[in-house]
Amino acid sequence: MNLFITGATGFVGGSVALRLLAAGHGVRGLVRDSAKAAQLTALGITPVLGGLDDHDLLVREARMSDGVINMANSDHAGAIESLIEGLRDSGKPLLHTSGSSVIGDDARGLRVNDAIFDEDTPLVVDPAKQPRRDVDLRVLGAGLEGIRGVVICPSNIYGTGTGLTPVSFQIPFLVNRARESGVVRIVGTGVNRWSNVHIDDVAELFLLAVEKAPTGAFYFIENGEDSFADIGAAIARRMALGPVQFLPAEEAAKDWGEMHAFFTFGTNSRVRAKRARRELGWAPRHSSALAWIEQEMPV
Ligand SMILES: NC(=O)c1ccc[n+]([C@@H]2O[C@H](COP(=O)([O-])OP(=O)(O)OC[C@H]3O[C@@H](n4cnc5c(N)ncnc54)[C@H](OP(=O)(O)O)[C@@H]3O)[C@@H](O)[C@H]2O)c1
Repeated sequence: MNLFITGATGFVGGSVALRLLAAGHGVRGLVRDSAKAAQLTALGITPVLGGLDDHDLLVREARMSDGVINMANSDHAGAIESLIEGLRDSGKPLLHTSGSSVIGDDARGLRVNDAIFDEDTPLVVDPAKQPRRDVDLRVLGAGLEGIRGVVICPSNIYGTGTGLTPVSFQIPFLVNRARESGVVRIVGTGVNRWSNVHIDDVAELFLLAVEKAPTGAFYFIENGEDSFADIGAAIARRMALGPVQFLPAEEAAKDWGEMHAFFTFGTNSRVRAKRARRELGWAPRHSSALAWIEQEMPV
């Protein structure tokens, strides 16, 4: 297939692009910087200069492609409208990347939430996250407009990306703060838990989904879960630092911003990727974020 992707220079998009190329697909990738465009060309990705707000460009690229994968921004409703316009009545796939923070709670790092979501569990979405859920629902409903709309909802992704951006978000953020301060800090007591998944297994799932996911499918992606206390302790061991420090969410908000303190690091986000295993035959190979941090994570 000749695929058009957004987020081609990013952690997820770059790794997925290289997996698609290795499987024999052609990839055109949206890029907003000409220096990065040259780097994409060197990787075998055809660069398309522009951004998510370039409506006509997105419509044209979607129309020319055999399918589209959006991996730039889970919340950009306008880009999804442009891509839907370009794909309307084509039967082609539109894969959209969401994120499991959409079911995050308000634990402030102080409690474990027993709620574990799989694809059959009605989602409980905080009003602040409803706009993200609305974008997901728009893609899931695109079957009515003749598009094979599919939403992929990764949990915390770890591992080293194979594209232009080798680092993910959550674990590298804690590592960078620890590098600055000499101590690993986590929100609350860190008992809150997140599911996680290795980037190589994420790329594999995107490949399977673009080839065979049915219209309207929603997939969580995870292969294990950990508390932030355990993740923090593993980072501290890897970096040869002292014990983890516990930071009340309100204090973390002052340093890291409210979004990170209350949503990214203070929440529980526990999901089970049942459908991808059952329906796509997805068989992840990596199962421990803690082992990756302690044995492989570059520091
Ligand atoms: N990493 C995770 O753990 C994780 C987990 C769950 C869900 N997700 C979701 O997956 C998506 C990708 O995440 P990531 O970790 O790969 O992020 P990333 O490394 O920051 O990559 C984001 C990509 O999107 C591009 N981009 C952003 N805004 C754009 C715009 N307005 N126009 C054109 N391109 C734009 C960036 O281009 P530039 O190079 O120009 O900046 C970059 O290629 C996000 O929606 C994220 O919420 C990520």
